Amino acid sequence: MTFILHLHLIAAISWIGGSIFLFVLGLTLRKKEDQRAVYPRIGPIYGYFEIAALSILLTTGIFMISEYGFIPDLFDLAIHNSVIDALRIKLWLVGVLSVLTVVHTIISFQTIHVEKTPLQKFFSRGGSLGIFLINFLILHYAMVLRDIL
Ligand code: HEM
Repeated sequence: MTFILHLHLIAAISWIGGSIFLFVLGLTLRKKEDQRAVYPRIGPIYGYFEIAALSILLTTGIFMISEYGFIPDLFDLAIHNSVIDALRIKLWLVGVLSVLTVVHTIISFQTIHVEKTPLQKFFSRGGSLGIFLINFLILHYAMVLRDIL
């Protein structure tokens, strides 16, 4: 279990670090020509790196809650306590984050070599801002959980 928690932590650091780095890159790389030079090269590598990190987080997270025996309590909505409530909020946030990641990744891979339409820009930028902010909320609930367990 300690090994799985360490794996979960390394994946969390990679996932959050990657998303903060890309967010900063998006804010600082303003010139179109720079974006055209950088994104097609790092985009796919970043995409696969983040998909791997998120998959490890989901797998190790599900393993841990199953080892703790939390899965039946999670789905029994009559049960409320500090661990299960924090876990439920964390998992809702992880769900929203995963949907935003899928949307963002699909648009990014579709537009590696072509200009984004205004709608694609809206969903891609909105998604990346959402992922950036939700990460901090997930971290908060992860720490609440760890404090109790
Ligand atoms: C974006 C996704 C996720 C991130 C960034 C994340 C991050 C973290 C971090 C940083 C911790 C350690 C907190 C601390 O040491 O203070 C943690 C703990 C934990 N996470 Fe996640 N997590 C994610 C997804 C999940 C999922 C999907 C599950 C369950 C299905 C999960 C279950 C847990 C549990 C049970 C702990 C506490 C383990 C213990 O204290 O023994 N996490 N998470």
